Amino acid sequence: MLPQSEWVQQSGVQDADWATIGNRTQTYTEWNTPMLADLLTTLTPKIAAFRRDIHAHPELAFDEHRTAEKVAAYLDGLSGLGLEVHRGLAKTGVVARLKLGTSRRSIGLRADMDALPLQEMNGFPHRSKHAGRMHACGHDGHTAMLLGAVEALCTLRDFDGTVVFIFQPAEEHEGGGRVMVEEGLFERFPMDMMFGLHNWPGLPAGHFGVTDGPVMAGADRFDIVVTGRGGHAALPHQAIDTVLAGSALVQALQSLVSRSTDPLDAAVVSVTRFHAGHADNVLPETAQLGGTVRTLTTQVQMQLEEGMRRICTGIEATYGVRIELHYERGYPPTVNASSATAIARAAAGAVVGEHAVQLNLRPSMGAEDFAYLAQCVPASYVWLGNGSTEGGCLLHSPHYDFNDEVIATGIRYWVALVRQVLGGER
Ligand code: NI
Repeated sequence: MLPQSEWVQQSGVQDADWATIGNRTQTYTEWNTPMLADLLTTLTPKIAAFRRDIHAHPELAFDEHRTAEKVAAYLDGLSGLGLEVHRGLAKTGVVARLKLGTSRRSIGLRADMDALPLQEMNGFPHRSKHAGRMHACGHDGHTAMLLGAVEALCTLRDFDGTVVFIFQPAEEHEGGGRVMVEEGLFERFPMDMMFGLHNWPGLPAGHFGVTDGPVMAGADRFDIVVTGRGGHAALPHQAIDTVLAGSALVQALQSLVSRSTDPLDAAVVSVTRFHAGHADNVLPETAQLGGTVRTLTTQVQMQLEEGMRRICTGIEATYGVRIELHYERGYPPTVNASSATAIARAAAGAVVGEHAVQLNLRPSMGAEDFAYLAQCVPASYVWLGNGSTEGGCLLHSPHYDFNDEVIATGIRYWVALVRQVLGGER
């Protein structure tokens, strides 16, 4: 993977130019041309129907065959307008590219396609037809809105440059974004900048949350095996007690956040498993522990992993046990770049008005694999309000549903982003 600076230089756009692009004000007429407004009156119901269809047919990570084929078929229908369609990146991923004019500038827009292993408890007609699978995170809505944006941009044709549309598999747990990067997403489709969005229950419908810097946490996991010497509980001096050593370890790990991390940096270390022993009179030979680590910066993530290794070594020496630590890096923190975030803010403001753009909300300690894409080029990931959480409409709830009322806003946002970077005065 090339470092960020080399990607940015591909199109020759310098930092100062990005700042100018972010500061440009779009006028109402620019984004809400009668043509776009007309188009949305027919496009929005069609996209809502598409969304409900994939809601009814949810597919899990890397198994989104039907969804990907429906997406690709929709995109194929636009190939007469100059859209290239590429199937099969990261197994079920689909990438489309639209190049207009002569500018070498290029941006990526990304949606995720996968559902969750969850039993839906809604009763509406478009509820999941598959037991134990559900679009409980709104990726059906993300996919549908991006398709709507592709059609709008292919039809309106009012930008100069390249837009890459990324329909990513396996956002939940499996890191489809990482696999796309490993399979050459950026080599095959060079992009200067990348944008993503996620619906956000609790944020008023149609409002945007735009955050500079960390927006979603990194999520790592760890497994620890403490090995001592099993023995009779009445003769502890002949054994090496793994319960005691494990307990000391749990206590000591809590100092990582409270004593070793800057109080202004958010971090979580949770030990969520501790298994040892079966009998009242036996000191167990081993104890197994595990849990999760959440951080908002890679620096703190690295500090915590190092600290965990240091503490394990200390506990080994103190209690005479042997400790194996298996620390597994999960999704990195999703960190929004200032340059891309200024552009996202301008685009969101052009669509819904400044008053409906909430700035620098508190980051979520949930994780998101857009992080892998945001490590490659300057990127910004925004939240689009999904409205009230009443009726259990929270992410990953069995009562969740994507709010179709925000589809037109989402499409307008993507179009406004493209116009912000590739349209208007340059
Ligand atoms: Ni999600």
